Amino acid sequence: MRFPQHIIAKKRDGEVLSREEIGAFVRGATDGSWADYQLSALLMAIYLRGMTPEETALYTEAMMNSGVVADLRSVKLPKADKHSTGGVGDKVSLHLAPMVAACGVAVPMISGRGLGHTGGTLDKLESIPGFRVNLSMAEYRAELEHIGLSLIGQTAELAPADKKLYALRDVTATVECIPLICGSILAKKLAEGIDVLVLDVKFGRGAFMKDKAKARELAQALVSVATAMGKPTRAVMTAMEQPLGRNVGNALEVIESIECLRGRGPADTMEVTYALGEQILVLAGVAQTAAEARAALEGSISLGAALEKLRAMITAQGGDARVVDEPERLPQAKFKVALAAPRSGFVQDVDAMGVALAALRLGAGRVKAADGVDHAVGFSDLVKVGERVAAGGPLCVIHANDEAGLAAAREMIARAIVVGDVAGATPQLIDEVIG
Ligand code: URA
Repeated sequence: MRFPQHIIAKKRDGEVLSREEIGAFVRGATDGSWADYQLSALLMAIYLRGMTPEETALYTEAMMNSGVVADLRSVKLPKADKHSTGGVGDKVSLHLAPMVAACGVAVPMISGRGLGHTGGTLDKLESIPGFRVNLSMAEYRAELEHIGLSLIGQTAELAPADKKLYALRDVTATVECIPLICGSILAKKLAEGIDVLVLDVKFGRGAFMKDKAKARELAQALVSVATAMGKPTRAVMTAMEQPLGRNVGNALEVIESIECLRGRGPADTMEVTYALGEQILVLAGVAQTAAEARAALEGSISLGAALEKLRAMITAQGGDARVVDEPERLPQAKFKVALAAPRSGFVQDVDAMGVALAALRLGAGRVKAADGVDHAVGFSDLVKVGERVAAGGPLCVIHANDEAGLAAAREMIARAIVVGDVAGATPQLIDEVIG
């Protein structure tokens, strides 16, 4: 038997860990047999020394098997999920999941909450009155059998080692490490019981991985580990320089997603939605080509089938599905104030990080994991880069619940939006597809 200190020393000295050693580490995180300082020391050694592709695959497998792997054999449709590494205004999961389900692919999606500057799907869903994200495994399975769609939060049974290790990474400066990110994301996604996976790996100012080369390295690692574990996976690299769509904030993003399902979604949001949806339908085998997949996805909107799936999911999870037709039933902010353009011209920049921090100041996200969020606040009707604006015309509408927040956020958002004489180039959104 090897003690934790021997395994830590081996990685500290740059050696490759065996299946047994990696298994002992993940078991130690799950059953508490390793102390937090030993877990943290090995996390830092991995951060500094890295892992080979084989070690990363063994680590991911051990993380996935630290809890239950959902048994979805009773769900007869192919099962696929999409995961985004996180962005600003990224509400794609909310409407893409019903679109994909309407095309005959079940979506067992386990999502996270927002932390730091990025929003979380669970927080957005919880702005719907009554909506429950904490279903039991049996409820999750039943919803998938009946409507082919379930959007829930992580359960205590799923990848418990990640819960422990992620909390330690967060406070030991070991988050930004590709093998650790790979194990963390994939352990949860592969434990959902999916057949195929599509990843939206974001890069740019508003992304978690700002550097494109690093984001590509992460995408390649995620694709190769998940594929080696028998789950066909592709990653679409997308830019996150300006917010996606025109609304940022929990309830405001739900409203925009409903607009997407009504065929009135912003062009950039739909571009990312279709790029990811095409990959899912092709990988899941319900479409032969991207063009065929695109036609099916467009049909799910024009025929109203995707909107019906959203209604069914909201009802199944205890929410008030009337919000789909009456969005005013979603939480509303006390103040709704337009931000006036200081001059006429063209929008040259909308800094995603600046918008995210302003939304955080309004209370749309969390500063600490234990904080609550204000579902009503944020920004709507944001201008996009390249658009023409008139002096005094609106750059966005600020939704705030207190006057101090409104004043602070107004200053922050005004700095994030730059208006100049010439129209900047419309930034390219979709980069490459990996896998
Ligand atoms: N998201 C996760 O779930 N885990 C990571 O390590 C990074 C992002």
